[in-house]
Amino acid sequence: MISIKNVTKKFPSVTALNDVSLEIKDKEFFGLLGPNGAGKSTLMNLMIGYIGADAGDIYIDEEKISQHNLAVRKQIGFVPQSIALYDDATAFENLEIFGSLFGIRKNLLRAVIAENLNRVQLYERRKDKVKNFSGGMKRRLNIAASLLHNPKVLLCDEPTVGVDPQSRNAIFDYLVKLNEEGKTIIYTTHYMEEAERLCSRIAIIDSGKIISSGTLDELLQLLPYEQTILINKNKTTESKLELFKSFGKLLNEQEKYELKPFDHLKLSDFFKAMEEHGIDYNSIDLHKPTLEALFLHLTGRRLRD
Ligand SMILES: Nc1ncnc2c1ncn2[C@@H]1O[C@H](COP(=O)(O)OP(=O)(O)OP(=O)(O)O)[C@@H](O)[C@H]1O
Ligand SMILES: [Mg+2]
Repeated sequence: MISIKNVTKKFPSVTALNDVSLEIKDKEFFGLLGPNGAGKSTLMNLMIGYIGADAGDIYIDEEKISQHNLAVRKQIGFVPQSIALYDDATAFENLEIFGSLFGIRKNLLRAVIAENLNRVQLYERRKDKVKNFSGGMKRRLNIAASLLHNPKVLLCDEPTVGVDPQSRNAIFDYLVKLNEEGKTIIYTTHYMEEAERLCSRIAIIDSGKIISSGTLDELLQLLPYEQTILINKNKTTESKLELFKSFGKLLNEQEKYELKPFDHLKLSDFFKAMEEHGIDYNSIDLHKPTLEALFLHLTGRRLRD
């Protein structure tokens, strides 16, 4: 288990983390969701012991993580937000460098590298220089590098930014597999779709504070409404404002209305009324609640600007 206890980290111009506490259980796929500048990378840098906190402590299985406690750091693999690879070296050579940094025994290293390259589907490209790799391939190599020492916890800091959709899916599949094999995964993102798809528990972070955490269901229950009804504007929806308003809170957007239904609303009643008023059925979409909506509800801002 990882315990983050009352951690504060200040930089000269900003408090990046403000009294953050979290518990991450073994084998969880834990998501840290927040917009730019929320403090996600700072928290990861503290968890790996790259930087120290101004207040508070982080423990992994009761052992305190610090810049000096290398034994604890060995239990953690880290995929940093900015790709950390040597462009002029081949994929294999890069992993040799990382492997020796982790102190992996020379006679084991080749086999460990081969296995890890295989698992990210880069074994065939092992002799190619990294500078010729796509963004997605570099990401996958960075993930392979973070796993050479077989850590029990893997920290991934926005590992799909700048990655093509195919590589993104490959990365998702691999992380899910690693998690099923027993690794604890901590994953930062500002894409709510990724957090919803991957994470068994999610903490939402904003301006250095954890504003909410729980399973996806628990988080979505914090929303006062269960779903949103989107009504695309067209001829059949003209001058129906009062009708729509009788079913919930209406936001008037440019191309569509967004209706947050009243608690007691029965959807069947709503659709019946729409039919009676001749509103084109195809102009109505139902949206389940999302983390995006929750973020908006909690902060008054959108997750992505
Ligand atoms: N080394 C540093 N020196 C000064 N300020 C920093 C440093 N690292 C981070 N910050 C500041 O701390 C705040 C949190 O930054 P952090 O990188 O942790 O956010 P983030 O959630 O990872 O954002 P992003 O999604 O953009 O990666 C920001 O205001 C940032 O400018
Ligand atoms: Mg970051």
